[in-house]
Amino acid sequence: MRVAMIGTGYVGLVSGTCFADFGHIVTCIDKDSSKIDALNSGEIPIYEPGLQELVAENVANDRLFFSTDASDAIKQADAVFIAVGTPTRRGDGHADLSYVYAAAEEIAGLIEGFTVIVTKSTVPVGTGDEVEAIIKKTNPDANFAVVSNPEFLREGAAINDFKRPDRVVVGTDSEEAVEVMRELYRPLYLNETPIIVTRRRTSELIKYAANAFLAVKITFINEIADLCEKVGANVQEVSRGIGLDNRIGSKFLHAGPGYGGSCFPKDTLALSRIGTEANSPLKIVDSVIEVNAARKRRMADKVISFMGGDVKGKTIALLGLAFKPNTDDMRDAPSIDIVSKLQEAGASIRAYDPAAMGEAGHIMKDVLFCDGPYHAIENSDVLVIVTEWDQFRALDLERVKSLLNTPKVVDLRNIYKPDYMSERGFEYTSIGRAY
Ligand code: UDX
Repeated sequence: MRVAMIGTGYVGLVSGTCFADFGHIVTCIDKDSSKIDALNSGEIPIYEPGLQELVAENVANDRLFFSTDASDAIKQADAVFIAVGTPTRRGDGHADLSYVYAAAEEIAGLIEGFTVIVTKSTVPVGTGDEVEAIIKKTNPDANFAVVSNPEFLREGAAINDFKRPDRVVVGTDSEEAVEVMRELYRPLYLNETPIIVTRRRTSELIKYAANAFLAVKITFINEIADLCEKVGANVQEVSRGIGLDNRIGSKFLHAGPGYGGSCFPKDTLALSRIGTEANSPLKIVDSVIEVNAARKRRMADKVISFMGGDVKGKTIALLGLAFKPNTDDMRDAPSIDIVSKLQEAGASIRAYDPAAMGEAGHIMKDVLFCDGPYHAIENSDVLVIVTEWDQFRALDLERVKSLLNTPKVVDLRNIYKPDYMSERGFEYTSIGRAY
């Protein structure tokens, strides 16, 4: 099949590359010519393990192309994917759909023969209807169907998530479009991956409901972690104790400094607005948004109180800045709140992240970005672990102790054990573990 992928951001680039790897002919389109030039010379603008190799392989096999010119690719396409950004609109929390609608208009004037237009971008319920209306209005003779096909890709594991998904969701009433979608996902179909065919509005809601539910789960365990600290319990054992109940499941029960990233903060906010507008308020989602935002701010207080209530003039080493490991994404990362509050309280920050320091440099001021974990720890008064990159799980603790001015560690991801740390002479605190 021939695919045109509009938008070479995170979702478009990963999806387009994986469809090419499934054997389809894919053209990824973006208006940003510097991005397309970079991609054509083999540079990948995002950090995603395995992506560079997969792009190179499919480009070499003439299945994957990058272009600023949408016309030929769209004319020939069996399916045109809209994978442009839907950032939070300033002021009201709504998803900004201007890029989606602009793409729909552009597609309308170009399609030839029956074409499936697929929204991959996360869009509010009813956006597919609007895309359909725009195309009909711009080109009344067009022969097309608009399908919702949300992505569930985790940054850092996106290729695996695309190729071995738990499910594929396809929202449309058109039988013809369902056949095209089945063909596109043929390798998964043969693998017996569940393909859920539903109405477009239901599919749009599935995406928001999935992300909101995961955000609820994380926020729930984070609050239980706070309670554990107060009542002498251990949140990791609580997670295991409840997670083994199949109805609950053990994933997304790791307590931490609060969720961040490109999806959960944006999608929970957008879902809350959808609920309000439909006169069906989502009180659980609303409190999750509030509790998570407050939590991120409170993590700096945790460090300050661990340091005896005052960090003025202290040097703090931060390991990990990205919102999670294996990504350079800094969007809504807890480290942003932590750094700014600690700086306000008079501390200086030395930081290290294996991938996100470039991004962090655009957001954080007056941070000393270091060459490695030990460089960050050197001459600091406390070490704060913010993101659980694998390399931080196996630090040489003797070296850490000798480099720190005082052997203090705040572990916001519970990657070390309290007993183990105190046996090695550290004053140590973590999340939700009274022992
Ligand atoms: C998420 C969804 O998982 C994905 O399906 C969707 O399409 C996009 O959003 P992503 O944002 O890449 O993916 O990361 P994910 O691994 O889900 O983590 C999200 C946030 O939750 C991170 O800040 C992470 O640190 C936090 N988290 C996750 C926890 O604090 N505890 C957990 O148990 C799991």
